[in-house]
Amino acid sequence: MSLVLVVDDEQSIRQVLTDILHDEGYEVMSAEDGLEAMALLKTHPVDLVLLDVWLPNKGGIDVLREIKAEYVSVQVVIISGHGNIDLAVKAVKLGAYDFIEKPLSLDRVLTVVKNALEVEQLKRENRALKDTVLKNDEMIGQSEPMLRVLELINQSAVGDARILILGENGTGKELVAREIHRRSARSGRPFVEVNCAAIPDTLIESELFGHEKGAFTSAVSRRTGKFEAADGGTLFLDEVADMTLSAQAKVLRVVQEMTFERVGGEKSLHVDVRIISATNKDIQAEIRAGRFREDLFFRLNVVPIQVPPLRERREDIPVLAEHFLRSLARPGATVAKGFTPEAMDELVKYRWPGNVRELKNFVERITIMSDEDAIGTESVRRFLGEIHSVEAEDTVLSEFEDMGLSEARESFERRYIEGKLAEHGNNISRTAEALGVYPSNLHGKIRKYGIKVEK
Ligand SMILES: Nc1ncnc2c1ncn2[C@@H]1O[C@H](COP(=O)(O)OP(=O)(O)OP(=O)(O)O)[C@@H](O)[C@H]1O
Ligand SMILES: [Mg+2]
Repeated sequence: MSLVLVVDDEQSIRQVLTDILHDEGYEVMSAEDGLEAMALLKTHPVDLVLLDVWLPNKGGIDVLREIKAEYVSVQVVIISGHGNIDLAVKAVKLGAYDFIEKPLSLDRVLTVVKNALEVEQLKRENRALKDTVLKNDEMIGQSEPMLRVLELINQSAVGDARILILGENGTGKELVAREIHRRSARSGRPFVEVNCAAIPDTLIESELFGHEKGAFTSAVSRRTGKFEAADGGTLFLDEVADMTLSAQAKVLRVVQEMTFERVGGEKSLHVDVRIISATNKDIQAEIRAGRFREDLFFRLNVVPIQVPPLRERREDIPVLAEHFLRSLARPGATVAKGFTPEAMDELVKYRWPGNVRELKNFVERITIMSDEDAIGTESVRRFLGEIHSVEAEDTVLSEFEDMGLSEARESFERRYIEGKLAEHGNNISRTAEALGVYPSNLHGKIRKYGIKVEK
């Protein structure tokens, strides 16, 4: 609902305007002079000001200048008396949307107010659209797991269901969130991102809900929070599992009621926001450890979307690599670079612990550093270089990937003992000594794992 502020020194005009605007469904406030108007603007989210150009104390033109300087998105419509059309024209030059002459035609008042608000709305949508277009990276991927993710995006985008996106670092969680917004009915409205891990606990409330001027020492002016900024659109709570418990409690309340107060403010604000959250943590483990509220989890996790790590969809690696090659190509470059088939094989085999982000960075680096048109295995190995040695360790661990801890521990223990026995010619006491355990203990393990000890 839009909030209109009527500024006129004549009580009867304030009354009439307030009544008709109110009947049309606007929220209305009124002020009798410029000072009162500026005070109200400071404390209320006004969308449009109906401003009498002829005011006591501070003239209408000065008030207009101040409004335009401080509140860019507040529309101003001038009310002018018969004798001061010149002033009205000047006002329009200074940024007023339009003017209405006295005696007031109520129809004209309503039309102008409606149009002015629509124009502001369009500007806002335009800004939101530019944001999404500029930030919109195409989502690439044709592997089974990726097609499932795309299908989930398609199914859930239209409604307002809350979505929790899970996945390792760099798998594309943010991209998924933006894609959902882009395909939703809210796409013309803002997509607002909050990185919950980056905000100190003391500031999270003011960041999310905004604050009034003077709410705390450093609050020198009023500030709108992310929830307000996202009104009508989507709020993306990134790294949501990194919020402290006290912040979680506050967010839980808003998520339930969509109502909150600015810090230091009394007025309850209501917003219409779709919430998408994401985390790379094991959120179930966070809940078990008491670090994440289960009730908040249930609220946020209406539709879970799991973005698979790149190593579980290796078919996507060539497609992504080609995509990044094309999109990172320097403008004006004549020959498009590519990878030789063998080099591409190397990329497909690599484990990509940093997932798509690592692949993108890699392609960026190699296109700048290598001067081959068809990038070969040599360069790929060289550029994967230091990461490759990390990968060697990772490969050892990858054998245990799908096991629980006790299964992994036992599997390791069995193979470790088998190896050591072989090393010591299957001599139990020498092997036990080398392992630093009692022979009886080693006998126990050998029985447990059914290891054959041949002499
Ligand atoms: N399927 C994809 N197609 C094209 N680009 C992708 C894809 N997935 C990820 N990317 C790119 O990889 C980079 C990392 O993606 P994004 O920031 O969405 O990951 P994330 O899961 O949010 O990572 P983090 O957990 O580190 O925040 C971005 O530059 C993104 O554009
Ligand atoms: Mg992210």
